[in-house]
Amino acid sequence: MGKILEKMEKRPKRIGILTAGGDCPGLNAAIRGVGKTAIVEHGMEVIGFVSGYTGLIHKEYTMLEESKLSGILTLGGTILGTSREKPFKNDLNNDDINKPELIVNNYRELGLDCLVCIGGNGTMKTAARLTDMGLNVVGIPKTIDNDVWGTEITFGFDSAIAIATEAIDRLHTTANSHQRAMVIEVMGHSAGWIALYAGMAGGGDVILIPEIDYNIRSVCKKVEKRFAEKKPYSIVVVAEGIKVPSSKTAGSYICECISEYTGVEARETRLGYIQRGGSPTTMDRILATRYGSYAVEIIAEGKYGKMVAMKDGHLTTIPLNEVENKLNLVSTDHPLVKMCRNMGVSFGDEY
Ligand code: F6P
Repeated sequence: MGKILEKMEKRPKRIGILTAGGDCPGLNAAIRGVGKTAIVEHGMEVIGFVSGYTGLIHKEYTMLEESKLSGILTLGGTILGTSREKPFKNDLNNDDINKPELIVNNYRELGLDCLVCIGGNGTMKTAARLTDMGLNVVGIPKTIDNDVWGTEITFGFDSAIAIATEAIDRLHTTANSHQRAMVIEVMGHSAGWIALYAGMAGGGDVILIPEIDYNIRSVCKKVEKRFAEKKPYSIVVVAEGIKVPSSKTAGSYICECISEYTGVEARETRLGYIQRGGSPTTMDRILATRYGSYAVEIIAEGKYGKMVAMKDGHLTTIPLNEVENKLNLVSTDHPLVKMCRNMGVSFGDEY
């Protein structure tokens, strides 16, 4: 066989794609980026697995023809569905089913040349294990929490901070009218990225993140000081992952403490899943599309076992096994933390 023919023969022709873990805005933009680039530029076939790794285990899938990828760019959620299925975790109710083996068999039976896994930390860990089992896998990092190791940014984050910032903006006026301390709890898992960014953009007076140990007396002092300085209200932005007594949520604990230990009336808002829903921002649409399209470019070059990533503003890759078991957390001397401190924002560790 001639060299050109041999090369064409080896070209990836059929790829699978799935979205796993908690959803976020931009998943459909990423699916579209992968699918369109694979079909239009490289003539590949694309199979979409339903509900994350569950679809791969049970061979539930849909062929993603190009027509199915039209009109989904701006859509929130994921057209493929998602789940928190972890195929390598022992399942006591189903210990007769060997999920990793089923996945490998299905991958081979469907004639896949590569599997694209879009997800967060858990998804990348599974993707690394599947690579160890001999499958060709490429990961794409997504999550509103921005906590995936090895990349500067995940898509979903920009949309989440836009929503959280708008919520904080709205709290300012009602806080002012009633002269209250408004506590707003945002998501982020064990990282403080959403609280830090939305807290800065929304002009939070106190920002509490898991990476910086807070002292409740310090938080209360800051609120009291603002009132003493004739600043009629305070905005306290709290990441869900900060340490609080186990019976409380982060926001409710901080709110209760402010009410109890200061003379200031306090109210709590928990933003919850609103941060994960709806249409992606412009930046998330672009980031998700770039990650999706770039993932196919590296597949076309025959590079597997990697996660696409952003480094110094440029697209790159990082081996999946370097990503697993690590978290991208806010460093205590992050430039945004320093700037906020320089402007009088409290991180609850001042006194
Ligand atoms: O990982 C994203 C995230 O939204 C976290 O911020 C949050 O703690 C978690 O998912 C909640 O996920 P679920 O309730 O869907 O399991």
